[in-house]
Amino acid sequence: MKSISRRKFVNQSLKATAFTVIGTQLAHASYAEESSPATLQFSQIKLPYAQNALEPSIDALTMEIHYGKHHTAYIKNVNDAIAAENITHATEKDFFTNVSKLSAKARNNGGGAWNHNFFWQVMAPGSAAPTGKVADAINGAFGSFDKFKEQFTQAAMTRFGSGWAWLVKDGNTLKIGSTPNQDNPLMDISDLKGTPLLALDVWEHAYYLKYQNKRNEYVANWWNVVNWNEVAKRLS
Ligand SMILES: [Fe+2]
Repeated sequence: MKSISRRKFVNQSLKATAFTVIGTQLAHASYAEESSPATLQFSQIKLPYAQNALEPSIDALTMEIHYGKHHTAYIKNVNDAIAAENITHATEKDFFTNVSKLSAKARNNGGGAWNHNFFWQVMAPGSAAPTGKVADAINGAFGSFDKFKEQFTQAAMTRFGSGWAWLVKDGNTLKIGSTPNQDNPLMDISDLKGTPLLALDVWEHAYYLKYQNKRNEYVANWWNVVNWNEVAKRLS
């Protein structure tokens, strides 16, 4: 009897503790909503095409895992960091231009959340070479489309380990470069700065299932799925 009574007491205590914790969280959430209604939350964009739409350049299983697992985790983790660390920036711009003051969790997952949303949009099935103002800007900055591709490929291939290759607009100039891990050119800590126009994910999770260690083949085939219309929108 004594043992049963003790168990009942422990169970009741646990229930009471759980209720208190939940009550505190609700009170805290309610207060947070009232005090800073515009605090940034990252959200995952809907994939603008089917998961198999970029085949054969990017296979459906890679897209499924990359979008559904890796990207989803970055979104959840950055929002967890925003809540846990009371990060009050209202915009992505403010978040990234102050990222040097944030935790590694916020920086890495914030970058991962934003970079992948960007990456999905600058790809589409059935790419052709750029035309119009994008072609003019690329020719003006790099001499020709082939020279641009060569320089961008070089940036993607020489990024040691995990990271991203970028084409950015910095003032009136276009620049190519790369960033480590999930850093991006919007971050105050980034050596490469500017408005991103195009990005390529060179983490192994982006290509390993299909290409294994052959990053060069992944990069070469990726040109077949670049969405130049999206690049043009960002160049305006
Ligand atoms: Fe990725």
